[in-house]
Amino acid sequence: MLPKKLLVTGGAGFIGSNFVRFWLEQHEDCSIAVLDKLTYAGSVENLEGAEKDPRCTFVQGDVCDRDVVDALMAEADAVVHFAAETHVDRSILAAGDFIQTDVFGTFVLLESAREHRVDGFVHVSTDEVYGELLEGWAKETAPLMPRNPYSASKAGGDRMAYAFFATYGVPTIITRGANTYGPYQYPEKLVPFFVTRAVRDEPLPLYGDGRQVREWLHVSDHCGAIEVLLERGEPGQVYNVAASNERRNIEMARIILDELGKSESLLRFVKDRPGHDRRYALDCSKLHSLGWRPKADFDAEIRATIRWYAKHRDWCECALARSKAYFEEQYADRA
Ligand code: DAU
Repeated sequence: MLPKKLLVTGGAGFIGSNFVRFWLEQHEDCSIAVLDKLTYAGSVENLEGAEKDPRCTFVQGDVCDRDVVDALMAEADAVVHFAAETHVDRSILAAGDFIQTDVFGTFVLLESAREHRVDGFVHVSTDEVYGELLEGWAKETAPLMPRNPYSASKAGGDRMAYAFFATYGVPTIITRGANTYGPYQYPEKLVPFFVTRAVRDEPLPLYGDGRQVREWLHVSDHCGAIEVLLERGEPGQVYNVAASNERRNIEMARIILDELGKSESLLRFVKDRPGHDRRYALDCSKLHSLGWRPKADFDAEIRATIRWYAKHRDWCECALARSKAYFEEQYADRA
């Protein structure tokens, strides 16, 4: 049975805000409380369309703050936990916030969920916890070998969510999703970052040889998978979420340039990301066995996404302005 009252952490971020809109559209008889700290990556603007909906309430706060969490948990049937520090490059520069939010914040939520006996708790983890996979596809039983501070923090939260199921019976379900694309992603990530660079005729900095492989999942499919898991996922289980769209980074950069009518002379090979995972790839047969299949057509949707960022230049510029120091530091020797 689907929960009626949801607590969505990180609901003003990328996947979270898309999920909130998706849920309100799909489920008339529902209510959502969004808890979001509004760090550099989150914004109430991302909740466009949902922010005035009477079924949706927004609370600015930190998942590490037990009092705020308890007040919201007391009213919730189920939790979808997106809130996290998510950018690998930032975790390489400074890991503390990742450990605090992604591990300790998850623990605070789990403690509160345990006390308030919620009916469901979806913990949104990542395919990065498996580490790089040079061949084959990782099943949920594959060893966890995270190789950067971000993915190590996510692995900590992921296993803590499982520990709360095994130890205390909190009905946690863990998703390990692939690289997600779509509107409202903070423009530090490959797709929106490269679009914002290309529209200004600035070079696209490909780390290393640009031949690393990521699997691309449209955000609507990511949201649909979480919906299926809230309805019929098995507590204590992990589910991979991907759509079999493997692309090299250089291919992604070429699609972006092609869609925007820009020259490939904008491609630049720059100093690599330390510990850069070469490839991620997921076996999703477990999720398929619940009846879920991705619906988005990659070629059409990636181009629609590129056009969305090109059209929302003000949104991008405003988001970028919140992180001037970061971009200067990250790309100083990669320009
Ligand atoms: O795989 C799921 C993960 O995907 C999520 O858990 C993370 O939160 C999300 O950030 C993403 O991680 P990646 O490190 O794969 O995403 P990012 O967009 O940072 O980079 C995608 C690829 O593009 C990666 O191989 C690094 C490369 N890249 C990225 C940037 C920002 C470049 O070559 N140049 C760049 O400037």
